[in-house]
Amino acid sequence: MTRRLMIWCGFLLLLHLACNSPAPVTTAEAHRPRFHFTPPSGWMNDPNGLVYQNGEYHLFYQHYPDSTVWGPMHWGHAVTRDLINWQHLPIALYPDSLGYIFSGSAVADTANTSGLKQGSATPLVALFTYDKQGFETQGLAYSTDNGRTWQKYDKNPVIGNPGEKDFRDPKVFYHQASGHWIMCLAVKDHIEFYRSQNLLQWQKTGSFGKTYGSHGGVWECPDLFPLTNPETGVTKWILLVSINPGGPNGGSSTQYFTGSFNGTTFTCEEDTAQVRWLDYGPDNYAGVTWNNVPGNRRIFLGWMSNWNYGQVVPTATWRSAMTVPRELTLQQAGNNWTVASLPVKELEALRQNEQPIAAGEEMSFNGLADMEITFDLTTNPEEAGMVFTNNSNEQLRIGYEREHNRLYIDRSRAGKAGFSDRFIPVSYAPRISDSTRLTLRIVLDVASAELFADNGLTCMTSVFFPSATFNRFKMYYRGKTSPFIEGKWYALKEARFSK
Ligand code: FRU
Repeated sequence: MTRRLMIWCGFLLLLHLACNSPAPVTTAEAHRPRFHFTPPSGWMNDPNGLVYQNGEYHLFYQHYPDSTVWGPMHWGHAVTRDLINWQHLPIALYPDSLGYIFSGSAVADTANTSGLKQGSATPLVALFTYDKQGFETQGLAYSTDNGRTWQKYDKNPVIGNPGEKDFRDPKVFYHQASGHWIMCLAVKDHIEFYRSQNLLQWQKTGSFGKTYGSHGGVWECPDLFPLTNPETGVTKWILLVSINPGGPNGGSSTQYFTGSFNGTTFTCEEDTAQVRWLDYGPDNYAGVTWNNVPGNRRIFLGWMSNWNYGQVVPTATWRSAMTVPRELTLQQAGNNWTVASLPVKELEALRQNEQPIAAGEEMSFNGLADMEITFDLTTNPEEAGMVFTNNSNEQLRIGYEREHNRLYIDRSRAGKAGFSDRFIPVSYAPRISDSTRLTLRIVLDVASAELFADNGLTCMTSVFFPSATFNRFKMYYRGKTSPFIEGKWYALKEARFSK
């Protein structure tokens, strides 16, 4: 071979490798997800200011750019047009003399009710919490250039502190029926409702929750929105409330209530003692939904971590990721209205060829997969699920256990775990559906698994830190007869994260 030909062959080989295998992982970037949102560097927690405007879904997030642990909070910023590929943008809000910039939301003030419009673009208005050594007030900032630059309102705060220690995380939306902007605010052990005509002056109208749901920890990051069941046309208002600690598998988690909202307060339809979790896994917290999404879709994003160990997980240059964007729907399960979650359909664009899952056969993959497997529970399996393995002899198990009628994610042998004794090895979720057909949809990235059982009626999210990428998987069961009905899977491509 001539020298020139050899160089060409080498180049083509490298090109082939680059296109067909995940990008090489440097030690510093080990465990960096490939299609879940992560900050370029530094610390991240809650998603904030989720608003859709002009073809862009904005994501702001709790961010400390100078360290990989929590500190003076900023709002980091990114946008996506397709809920898959992201563009990082400059930090939107920096702490100032009124405090750190804690969680909050953003709206598009289309009718310029705030009078903050300059030029032709619809003003984007963010309402967030200022935290000054635990003293919390609500502040406002606005952008008149599609979210590229932000000004703080010169008369901040717009809501002062009424004498409460925990008084934060405003979620604002426009309520057509009452012609008002509504704000839900988490106040220690309950949610307060405020309303406004102009986003600047706010009046308290009601409160909910002191005697409802779970109170194992402080209430944070509320969200309130209607969902309509497509089959019956029934509409329920859903109130999301994150709580930390007190989650079903320890630490942080998000509960929800179903009921009605009359423009001033929320009325729950459930018994005061009933507790319902949006996601039972240990790693989905502070999630909220986008305002203004076209087509009446309710799209949710959560922080894929847990305050029990989020600051000590073994990543080097950044900490934590968001869940995949999920669409929430109202579904009937027995006598209850249940909020089901599924990955947004846009995620399917990352799928490569559909491949069957064969019972008992081991498949190879590159660590990124979307799969669905169906089991027949009339065969009475003691256990059934999927096991993922790697070249370091580690494994991750995701399955169903008949004895307790529950789902689980077992990360006890899935890699590094010694960084915290609160990084629980196995998490469990009660199965909500009573169908004899059980489907497990599993979305796997290099350091996380998201389980959507029974079309999203029961969800679990769990992170893990393997020494090598999981590159094989297979179905398993314990019992006399194979419960396997069918299965299919897709290798996933990486998403793009640009600057
Ligand atoms: C939830 C939370 C919020 C607060 C923010 C601070 O994770 O505690 O209540 O606004 O994080 O970063």
